[in-house]
Amino acid sequence: MLDKVKYLQKLNTEKFGREPFFFECLDSTNSYALNNDLPEYSLISSEKQTFGRGRSGREWISMQNGNLYFTLVLPIVAPEKILPINLIAGYALCDSVRKYLDCRLKWPNDIVFNCKKLAGILIETKFSGNNLTKIILGVGVNVNCKGVSEEVPNASSIAFEFGDYMCRESILADFLNVFENYWRDSLTGIISIEEKWRDYSAFIGNYIEVHINGSREKLYECGVDSNGALIVKEKSGKMRKIYSGEIGYDFCC
Ligand code: BTN
Repeated sequence: MLDKVKYLQKLNTEKFGREPFFFECLDSTNSYALNNDLPEYSLISSEKQTFGRGRSGREWISMQNGNLYFTLVLPIVAPEKILPINLIAGYALCDSVRKYLDCRLKWPNDIVFNCKKLAGILIETKFSGNNLTKIILGVGVNVNCKGVSEEVPNASSIAFEFGDYMCRESILADFLNVFENYWRDSLTGIISIEEKWRDYSAFIGNYIEVHINGSREKLYECGVDSNGALIVKEKSGKMRKIYSGEIGYDFCC
């Protein structure tokens, strides 16, 4: 299990993650956060998950020791802020992993290194009628796992790529320390999501394959806009914005 004392020593946030709940095994930290009444800014982390969820209805395989599976309960913001939060969470996670590896982002927020996925982020929401009542940010990081399942051919772990074991408490606390700053700066408009993307994108200025609702399209990545939408150019030269879906691994080495 994560060492709470070590984690709190490294954490310098004002609010995020100050109330940590560490478990041995949960079905999913996202489900736990959605189904329990927890204060905003709470952190739920589990050593293993039996039903970890990934993006687009995929499973997030979470039975190996040594990784990070955690969820943060976010304060309620306007629904249009959720896509930008996906990106700032990616920037913060990239920053914490960049202490070891020069990783980048695959839109919207997969952390990749040499075209291998090291971490993924899944934001989920709960509504009561038309009212948004919960926003949670779930993060899975392949930190120290030895091998990654063959079912996930484009995946790796930080330790495998870096060549040494990593301190999970540091990666987690570093992420929260940076995320809190980005969160504050994005709410006050100080951060420029679109400018930052240029330093983090794995594919900007390249052809990519975008997966939307089961269809795939080859497009040229130009960047993102201030809302986090992906700006692409079609073969005809027409510009387009994409608000949902993801870039696939089709164009990876
Ligand atoms: C992705 O598909 O890239 C997103 C993966 C998100 C996985 C994390 S692990 C902790 C949290 N709990 C879940 O069930 N999913 C997220």
